Amino acid sequence: MSKTRDITVTVNGTIHHAAVEPRLLLADFLRHTLGLTGTHVGCEHGVCGACTVLVDGDSARSCLMLAIQSDGHSVETVESLGRLGQMSVLQKSFHEHHALQCGFCTPGMLMTATDLLRKYPLATDDDIRRGLSGNLCRCTGYDHIVKAIRAVVGKSGAAR
Ligand code: FES
Ligand code: FES
Repeated sequence: MSKTRDITVTVNGTIHHAAVEPRLLLADFLRHTLGLTGTHVGCEHGVCGACTVLVDGDSARSCLMLAIQSDGHSVETVESLGRLGQMSVLQKSFHEHHALQCGFCTPGMLMTATDLLRKYPLATDDDIRRGLSGNLCRCTGYDHIVKAIRAVVGKSGAAR
C-alpha cells in the first residue's frame, strides 16, 4: 500500500501536484516541500498564530491542518502579498508604523489582517483588535500593529 497520497493544491495562484505522507502538516508542506518559508511555525499547537495562512479565503492555522486537507483547495501565504523590493500596501504600513521587531509573528499578523480587511473593509480599532486576538506577539505590545492596519483601512490594495 502506498504511504503517500497525491494532492493538488493551488498555492498563491500556482497549481501544485505532490505526493505527501498523510501525517504531513500543511505548514511543513508549505515550508519544506514548496520552500515557502515565509509561513512561520511557533507553538505548533494552534495558539500563537504565526503559521496563519488563508485557505479558500479564510484564515487557518497551517500547524493544525494536514497537507492532505488542502487537496483541491486554494492556499494563500505571506509570499502572495508582495514581491522582493515591492512590498504590498499592508506590508509597507507595517514597516512605516514599526509594527514588527523580531518579525516572527509578522507573517501570521499580515495574513490575519488580510482576511480581516477583506471581510471588514471599514474595520474599526475594536474589529482590528478582535481580529488579531488569536495572534501572539512577544515584542510590539500590539499598538503599532493596530496602527499599521488602521492606516490602510479603506485604502485600495490594502487587502489584496
Ligand atoms: S505555530 Fe500554528 S498556531 Fe502557533
Ligand atoms: S515582532 Fe517579535 S513576536 Fe511579534
